[in-house]
Amino acid sequence: MTSLLNMSGNLPPRVPHAFDPIYRAALSQVMSEWQPSDLLGSHQFRGGERDRAAGAKFVGLRLPETPSPQRVVVANGTQSILTMLLYGLVGKGGSLAIEALSYPTIRQFADMLGFNVHAVPMDGEGIEPDAFETVCRRHHPSAYYAMPTLQNPTTATMGVERRRAIADICRRYGVAIIEDDIYSLLPRDVPPPLSAFAPELSWYVVGTAKSMVPALKVAYLVAPTSEAAAERFWPGVRATYWMCAPINAAVASSFIDGDGAVQIIDAVRTETRERQAMVASRLAGAEVCSIPECLHVWLSLPHDRPAAEFVAKVRELGVDIGASSTYAFGEASPPNAVRFGTGTPGDRTAFERGLDTIVRVFFDSQR
Ligand SMILES: Cc1ncc(COP(=O)(O)O)c(C=O)c1O
Repeated sequence: MTSLLNMSGNLPPRVPHAFDPIYRAALSQVMSEWQPSDLLGSHQFRGGERDRAAGAKFVGLRLPETPSPQRVVVANGTQSILTMLLYGLVGKGGSLAIEALSYPTIRQFADMLGFNVHAVPMDGEGIEPDAFETVCRRHHPSAYYAMPTLQNPTTATMGVERRRAIADICRRYGVAIIEDDIYSLLPRDVPPPLSAFAPELSWYVVGTAKSMVPALKVAYLVAPTSEAAAERFWPGVRATYWMCAPINAAVASSFIDGDGAVQIIDAVRTETRERQAMVASRLAGAEVCSIPECLHVWLSLPHDRPAAEFVAKVRELGVDIGASSTYAFGEASPPNAVRFGTGTPGDRTAFERGLDTIVRVFFDSQR
């Protein structure tokens, strides 16, 4: 029996023709520029100077202005940054506002750190301002975990006016914004980050896991001020696990300082568009939410075909995808939909096999 094909994850597609030579060259460059004992000789709590400067340049691909490197923290992935921020800004017994459908790992963080989550209803642009204001008034969240661009799982993107309205509410109710902008580097034409509309409240996070490779384990945070960055990420918090392996940080800096990062992102974008074109043609007529540069697809199902049953049927045929309930926060029942990733299958042939399975089950269910 063939093993289960993972399409429940939404990793970027592998692009060895672009990635492998760039990675090898970056490793050699780091080894020739650094004495290993200097590279590894001390802890870099917020990242070394060069790595923070590279991080500032990288987030400058999205933010309207390149921030001072003093506001940047280099960490070993988005999850580490989120854990530190959720611990520091929300904490035990605190309240976090979150999109009604969102990144499931936040539930684990809530259980681990002992805070409450308050789900905010969404429309096609993400959270609804009135509903958000109601949550702020009733529950006084200290932070909002925001994914305003190609939201996981719905693929919703907030327009500029919605961003402005949400930023305004955050300002009025003193809610910190923890913005996870991890899916924003593949599309070419998306609005500026939510953080650009309320920089004084915003903790802006961009990891490399969805635009380049998942296991480099490098993510960058921009704190509202350099003092805030230093306060949250220093040894006095009695933990050091968020720090990035220096070799990974240095390789990422080399990608960013040269044109390697842009080349890798371009290659991931091109392959994603190819796969999304297959989705669009094979699922023509279905209610599909996605765009050509998105790593996942949100597929609505007919009412008489519950998502759990659909997922089980696809799984029986060897392909793993996710039901909407996986992403649901709050009491309201989630829409009848599934999410599948376009990039996780190792090559296009495997992707095509998985897609054809989903398509077959989908159109069978219409008969
Ligand atoms: C919204 C979101 N943030 C962060 C991550 C993980 O990022 P990292 O591997 O950098 O911790 C994921 C992975 O699925 C994700 O979907």
